[in-house]
Amino acid sequence: MSIAWPAANAYADAMRLVVNNCVVPGRSGTVSIVCDDGTISEVAPAGAVASIRGDVVIDAEGRFVSPPFVDAHFHLDSVLTRVPNRSGTLREGIDNWAHYKRSKLTVEDVYQRANRYCEHAFARGIQAIRSHVDVCDQRLLGVEALLQIRADWKDRIDIQLVAFPQDGFFDGPETRSLLIRALDMGVDVVGGIPHNERTGALGHRSIVELMEIADERDLLVDMHCDESDDPGSRHVEILTDETYKRNMGERVTASHITSTAMMDRYYLNRKLIPLMARTGIHVIANPLINVHLGGHFHHPAPRAMAPIKELLAAGITVACGQDCNEDPWYPLGDADMFEVAKMGAHVGHMMGLAQLDEMYRTITYYPARIMRLDGYGLDPGARASFVIFDAPTLLDAMRTSAERLVIVRDGTVAIDRRLNSTTDG
Ligand code: FE2
Repeated sequence: MSIAWPAANAYADAMRLVVNNCVVPGRSGTVSIVCDDGTISEVAPAGAVASIRGDVVIDAEGRFVSPPFVDAHFHLDSVLTRVPNRSGTLREGIDNWAHYKRSKLTVEDVYQRANRYCEHAFARGIQAIRSHVDVCDQRLLGVEALLQIRADWKDRIDIQLVAFPQDGFFDGPETRSLLIRALDMGVDVVGGIPHNERTGALGHRSIVELMEIADERDLLVDMHCDESDDPGSRHVEILTDETYKRNMGERVTASHITSTAMMDRYYLNRKLIPLMARTGIHVIANPLINVHLGGHFHHPAPRAMAPIKELLAAGITVACGQDCNEDPWYPLGDADMFEVAKMGAHVGHMMGLAQLDEMYRTITYYPARIMRLDGYGLDPGARASFVIFDAPTLLDAMRTSAERLVIVRDGTVAIDRRLNSTTDG
């Protein structure tokens, strides 16, 4: 299988790219970004860089330029299935997905949906995705399809796959061997879903066994953890302790942990968060999905999202992921990471200007750290991958979910929605 890239453009063979008049995060005034052979070689104040013959030169005209979005929590195998969820609950989503797996899933089906989504996501400025892939399927069709997607998109999107036992690690007698087989096939990260095991004790055991597998293979871990309104769902404590005992801090991520929104504040702030901060474990919240799926059965309805303000204040690396796009859990979604960050800002009371800057980092720099992406950012030495937004500042880009005017990947202009770029010489 292959995919059709956007039509070849005038920039394809250029060696040096100079982007002038850029507004970039963390620097005042405008700068020029110089890219040589796919790497940023220089970031200099505006006017300090002279273009030379053969350069591709783009005038950003004072627009905001950012490294690409990183979506560290997504499900490419279920994307665009558009399966209705009448109750709007996590449970019905899991059941409907199980039915879809049994009745409709093929390698071609997963590949085509994921491929369509990647085309849209790339055009929306996303260049890295960590996708969970359900391994509770004897045929591992999703794994086969997404390994192909990962290979076919490697020049545009860095895709990391997580072996995810959606129905529970102890749901079926073969789930363990299916998960191991998926890792043997090349899936990158060990997943889990302790709150979906039949009992809390099985959830605990699943964490221990999955961490053992990851430790033996020297892999990263990212578990769906405590995606529940039950304040007694405390698997993240076990995951944190296993991380500590195995000295695997910074290789382990707890996704969702929405039960923390319901927890006793003494336990949360005096025990759990300090323990997590000491260990170095990461957190991924999924604001759109968390507030949609959580809080159905409580009155007043809670803000069913991890307390990102407190987690960030404790020094924990927090990312915000999109999780779902037109799938059995969520009928909306448009590959817009600004939408994700803005929902996180609303729900997490993160609306101060410095806090909005932090929210921007939860969809860029922080998930890049979680995914361990090499050369991320806009400093010299980084990969020359970035997005020019049609907005003068980060705040305006976020506020308006500004159009992604120009998309650069490894020094090559992949998409240019402006028509006034020039080539010197
Ligand atoms: Fe998820």
